[in-house]
Amino acid sequence: MRVVLIGAPGAGKGTQGVELAKRLGVAYLATGDVLRDHVERGTDLGRRVAEYLDRGELVPDDVVVDVVCDHLAPLADDGGYVLDGFPRTVAQAQAAEELLPGGLADVVVYLDLPDDVARERLDQRDDGRSDDDEDTIDHRLEVFHAETEPLVGFYEDRGQLRRVDADQPPTAVLAAIEAVLS
Ligand code: AP5
Repeated sequence: MRVVLIGAPGAGKGTQGVELAKRLGVAYLATGDVLRDHVERGTDLGRRVAEYLDRGELVPDDVVVDVVCDHLAPLADDGGYVLDGFPRTVAQAQAAEELLPGGLADVVVYLDLPDDVARERLDQRDDGRSDDDEDTIDHRLEVFHAETEPLVGFYEDRGQLRRVDADQPPTAVLAAIEAVLS
């Protein structure tokens, strides 16, 4: 099972992705975590992407596609994955389809959340992410609507999209995701 979670910042991709992967018995991969890990370790990649993360901008497509596809190919052979944060653009989705022999996703779950609820959640998050100040949160939401939201139509046209109301308690969101996957 290969599940892709898309949604605005704060929609709950990480919260749900970790739990869903456990339930499905597959790997969980979050591109934001992978990139932040490179920044923390000070790798070449980390130095290249740090500014994008801090500004709430997307890292260039070619950089992310290479990193993600390297991680995904073995996972796809090993039962699948829940993928959080990739693709973020239609170009990333198309590139991944070409690079991965079996395609990127069986199902794409869109966690649908109003911006004002997303802002409240990110304001209250207590793990101190460098991109969680008020202006950067606003910018991340703008970037989501401009760059990532077109994926909703892209996957709808392909019959792969399942929409879930993310404005519910976490356990209810998880149940709704499991319902659309079954
Ligand atoms: P990334 O790490 O993916 O961040 P994001 O999309 O901004 O998402 P968040 O992690 O903030 O939110 P989430 O939807 O995971 O929600 P969460 O479960 O954490 O990306 C960071 C950066 O990396 C990007 O800006 C970009 O620079 C770069 N990047 C990553 N992927 C890229 C790509 N493919 N291409 C280019 N660049 C890329 O929950 C948020 C908060 O809400 C938590 O406190 C949580 O406890 C709470 N919460 C969750 N669910 C609920 C609920 N149901 N009810 C109440 N509270 C809830």
